[in-house]
Amino acid sequence: MKDHLHIAPVKNCVGELILPGDKSISHRALMLGSLFTTPLIVSNCLAAEDIVHLKSALRFLGTLIEDGEQISVHTPVWRAPKQALYVGNSGTSCRLLTGMLAGLGMTATITGDESLNQRPMQRIIAPLSYMGAQIFSDSGKCPLIIEPSQLQGIEYELPVASAQVKSSILLAAVAAKVMVAIKEPVPTRDHTERMLTAMGANLSFQDQTIIVKPSTLQPTPICVPGDISSAAFFMVLASVVKDACWLLKDVGINPLRTGVIDALKLMGADIQLSNQRLFGTEPVADILIRHAPLKGIDFPTQWVTRTIDELPILFVAACFAKGKSIFRSAKELRVKESDRIGAMADALTQAGIQIEEFNDGMMINPSRIQYAKVDARGDHRIAMAMSVAFLAACGGEIVNSVNIQTSFPSFIDIINTHCGQVIQ
Ligand code: S3P
Repeated sequence: MKDHLHIAPVKNCVGELILPGDKSISHRALMLGSLFTTPLIVSNCLAAEDIVHLKSALRFLGTLIEDGEQISVHTPVWRAPKQALYVGNSGTSCRLLTGMLAGLGMTATITGDESLNQRPMQRIIAPLSYMGAQIFSDSGKCPLIIEPSQLQGIEYELPVASAQVKSSILLAAVAAKVMVAIKEPVPTRDHTERMLTAMGANLSFQDQTIIVKPSTLQPTPICVPGDISSAAFFMVLASVVKDACWLLKDVGINPLRTGVIDALKLMGADIQLSNQRLFGTEPVADILIRHAPLKGIDFPTQWVTRTIDELPILFVAACFAKGKSIFRSAKELRVKESDRIGAMADALTQAGIQIEEFNDGMMINPSRIQYAKVDARGDHRIAMAMSVAFLAACGGEIVNSVNIQTSFPSFIDIINTHCGQVIQ
């Protein structure tokens, strides 16, 4: 994967695509699979760097993973890893694995790349320590050192809406066979809960509280839907390029992930869902999206958690709309793989867009995107969002783009195949 992209405007923009597997669901499938002593089968698992790192960490712990069209995963016997578990850029691997290993009473050290080692981990250390885990870190950042301990059940109110924190606690509880009750400030993606329910877990919901009680799980096969977070780049590309049309097949449409569809529709996008069905417990659909004129929006703040990873590409959509757009209440974007508010505000400003940056979002005053050389800051979603911006305008350059490989390694090939060799 290249770290410096030269992008030309798209020549045509029509295609049919089966998206790679959802990253969040792939992580959970492999981690829950590792909890079984007999194989769990996962199909359409994402093949990308974040998942490669998770698999290698699990293998150091004794998990057997057979790769192929379908992946089989199980752990005959857990073993203490001899070296630190390196999970690269992957916040989901780090946070969920820490919870699971604390629940299993393992000794392990988890570390990552420069970006991951800057990200806040106190948000998982606090509830896991409250359960009795022993996790040592330098000022709440990776590396995290986990020492064996016996966990106990807790009731916990999440201070920030975070599916990673919620899932970390759920995995700790399931692995330790203790009860937890977790209250969320607003609902976040519920893939862990859906998967656990399909596997026979004793899970119930009261108001905004998830309660999980000890139970025996069954290794129920998992088919991973296409990743709506990857589909979002093609939805915006199709919306803003004249005569464009994409059919995106088998895309996950879990209602806690579809803020991007609602936001684009609010902007006037032409999006049609068909063939709606279930992959296990996860809803999927084919999404047809055609060019349509967009208008600026005041992004509804209650949609932020349902759209958290798609906000950078929605900022790009807003640049092509008629009228200003405003996005607020998204402070969490500052602690993602990069500071996504800062990274997008800088990149779009360099591309000639008038941006007013806020601590928790930005106001976008659209105009013609100009050729510029921008920095993706090693963040996959910034690199792909700015690629779409330049593809739909008059081209540009992106440096520090290599991490596209963490979530969507085929992104550039797909664009080049369908849109005419426009990314070098
Ligand atoms: C994820 C949850 C979100 C999201 C991340 C994946 C998950 O993070 O931004 O890309 O798989 O649970 P937070 O839980 O930190 O909001």
